[in-house]
Amino acid sequence: MAANKLGVGFIGSGFVTRFHIQSWLGVRDADVLGIYSPNRQHAESTADFARKLRVGNARAFNSIQEMIAAPEIDCLWLCAPNHLRLQHMQTICEALQSGPGKLIGIACEKPLARNVAEARRMVELVEASGLLHGYLEDQMFAPGVRRGKQIIWDRAAALTGRPYLARAAEEHGGPHSPWFWQGELQGGGVLNDMMCHSIEVARFMLTKPGALRSSIRPLKVTAQIASLKWSRPEYARALKETMGPEVDYQNKPSEDFARATINYEDEEGNPLIVEVTTSWSYVGAGLRLSLELLGPEYSLSMNSLDSGLKLFLSRKVQGESGEDMVEKQNAEQGLMPVLGNEAAEYGYEAQNRYFVQCFLDGKQPEESFYDGLEVTELLMTAYMSAEQERTIEFKP
Ligand SMILES: NC(=O)c1ccc[n+]([C@@H]2O[C@H](COP(=O)([O-])OP(=O)(O)OC[C@H]3O[C@@H](n4cnc5c(N)ncnc54)[C@H](O)[C@@H]3O)[C@@H](O)[C@H]2O)c1
Repeated sequence: MAANKLGVGFIGSGFVTRFHIQSWLGVRDADVLGIYSPNRQHAESTADFARKLRVGNARAFNSIQEMIAAPEIDCLWLCAPNHLRLQHMQTICEALQSGPGKLIGIACEKPLARNVAEARRMVELVEASGLLHGYLEDQMFAPGVRRGKQIIWDRAAALTGRPYLARAAEEHGGPHSPWFWQGELQGGGVLNDMMCHSIEVARFMLTKPGALRSSIRPLKVTAQIASLKWSRPEYARALKETMGPEVDYQNKPSEDFARATINYEDEEGNPLIVEVTTSWSYVGAGLRLSLELLGPEYSLSMNSLDSGLKLFLSRKVQGESGEDMVEKQNAEQGLMPVLGNEAAEYGYEAQNRYFVQCFLDGKQPEESFYDGLEVTELLMTAYMSAEQERTIEFKP
């Protein structure tokens, strides 16, 4: 470790790793120094991307063990697909026990695992490793979310009472890699993939600043799932063509819509409600994150597509499709919202700054594998509720 700077190594070199690397422009206490992916070319090009952004003199590693053994690597960001989570955690623990290298902390992308059994094992392994641990839930760190929470609680809740209802939604047209669409690899459909964000950000808004997670308590979960779009024959066919033969939504769909209501109670036994909706069947300009918080004399609302910057491109502007305006962009013409700095606005920047500072100070982050486990428990309860078509008391 350089005097006051950490070296970070990434496991995984995909879409989310690039978001993290972009966010590093706003992280001062660490450099991106390592990338591991089984595909050497991916690792090399991602390391090159980090060097070009000047967020660290990153190099590609041939294995997780080799990256851990490198003296410049102090902490890891676990960003590979979900089905590899537990395997990677085991590899990390074994490498720490038997080989050179000394890590301080590990931060894991959402979801912590594909199911509760795996999430519990993740917690056991991280506890045994002695590493500081963080659960990467970027939306909790989005500047609008933080600022909105602070103002609502300081000004309004202090005078008229705590908020009682939080609504959160995350919607787009469908994920970018085949593994997301395969239930066994990903852990489910859109409920597992995206409701983890909505549940956690809604719970965060309803929790008094500085209070423990346990200060509000989930009591019961009512949920519904459906395959609305992607199992229609023409869309199932199109999906197979773009994602490969193993993504077969006519015979083996995962849900592309999910909603849940979670009843909580506060410290005094007052009822609180979280309403969450997620879909891969939303077609708009691109990824839409929305959030509302309601209290006795106030409300808050946010929508990531209500951006300050908008472009209008006429039909004569024809070019390649891309994601240069907004994540999961669906069009290149007409009136399009643009996010000035997506990695910051979605929360990656403040999130990574927070975890890096915790690791540097030797402090256990407040958002940890324990939170990832509870989110997984809530998600699995939602699946159970949807399957049994009834409200399920938490924890079942
Ligand atoms: N916070 C968010 O909003 C957000 C957004 C997207 C993805 N994610 C999460 O991040 C993780 C990665 O998603 P993604 O979108 O980057 O996926 P992706 O499909 O874009 O990329 C996956 C990457 O993992 C690499 N990989 C494959 N096998 C590997 C192995 N054995 N070891 C190490 N790397 C391996 C691949 O080369 C690829 O670069 C997932 O857990 C996902 O849920 C979070």
